[in-house]
Amino acid sequence: MAKIFSGIRPSGKLHLGNYLGAIKNWLELQNDSEQAIFAVVDYHGITTPYDSTTYKQQVNDVVLDYLAAGIDPDKSLLIRQSKVPQHTELAWIFNTITPIGWLDRLPNYREKLDQVEHSSDISAKSYQNNLALLAYPVLMAADILLYKSSLVPVGDDQKQHIDLTNEIGSKFNHLFGEVFPNVKTHIVQGARIMSLQDPTKKMSKTGDDGIALSDEPDVIRAKIKKAVTDSGKEVKYDEKEKPAISNLLTIYHLLSGKEVNAIEKEYGGKSYVEFKNDLAEVVVSFLKPFQEKKKEFENNPKGIMKILEVSEEKARKLADNTLVEIKDKMGLL
Ligand code: TYM
Repeated sequence: MAKIFSGIRPSGKLHLGNYLGAIKNWLELQNDSEQAIFAVVDYHGITTPYDSTTYKQQVNDVVLDYLAAGIDPDKSLLIRQSKVPQHTELAWIFNTITPIGWLDRLPNYREKLDQVEHSSDISAKSYQNNLALLAYPVLMAADILLYKSSLVPVGDDQKQHIDLTNEIGSKFNHLFGEVFPNVKTHIVQGARIMSLQDPTKKMSKTGDDGIALSDEPDVIRAKIKKAVTDSGKEVKYDEKEKPAISNLLTIYHLLSGKEVNAIEKEYGGKSYVEFKNDLAEVVVSFLKPFQEKKKEFENNPKGIMKILEVSEEKARKLADNTLVEIKDKMGLL
């Protein structure tokens, strides 16, 4: 059994990509793991422009999403990254053994640099080329290795970050002695849900190209109605020739549990419009119980705070154990 760790940045409303690429797999893994820790990575979220006046609320909103989706505090620890300061402490240690050359060519870094540079956000200028954006994956490696996690369920855009985590972990082991395990990425179908407006781009928290887990039924229906489709008429899975329909089919399949070829058969001879109308209902009814549960949790802020505090206390203990081992090896004790 593995030790699991994963996290999401609280930088916008969570969407179907976050659910299908990450959270859905957490739910399965939490039942069958030696240790499962799911974090709202609020220190990662402040590396790009954000609103400090609503940030606390935003962090809590992601916590509610985790719980409403089915993260079970009896099986998993649910933490806010900044409440376990050992994450940043280990990140500093890792900074000392991470060459800049490992970081500045990572595609996610380049992409974010570009986003900040072209952002219309008035505060974006202050964030241009900041050091934390470069060191972002080092903090991510610390998140994972602090708990000696060995399995990280994420979408496929995070794969290079996990490779880097292993590079940092093995460099440490080599320099100071064996502490960290090898980390595997848990990537499944749904690891890359694409934008409804442009199937060559992934669904993201920033644009209006995705379906937020909190979207109202009518918003969902309107977004799917407006989703781009491909040329031709056939509802058929073909990533190359029909990337838009293939993406919609993946969403349909993962939310309904029906196999892709069964869905293709069901819509044989029917139009894209009929397919999209039904898909909208699949999404609406999938999200309904989630949204209802989220409302229940919203009405229990004290209970949520208790869950967080208990988890964070346990996480700090686990983190301390690893840090003592690390510091001992490094001559810092
Ligand atoms: P973030 O906040 O960008 O995304 C959270 C998770 O959602 C997945 N994801 C997607 N999956 C499928 N299709 C999409 N369109 C899609 N968009 C996002 C991401 O792959 C991710 O699993 N660096 C991380 C957060 C992080 C982390 C960690 C993750 C910090 N420390 C330690 C794992 C372990 C990030 O920015 O995720």
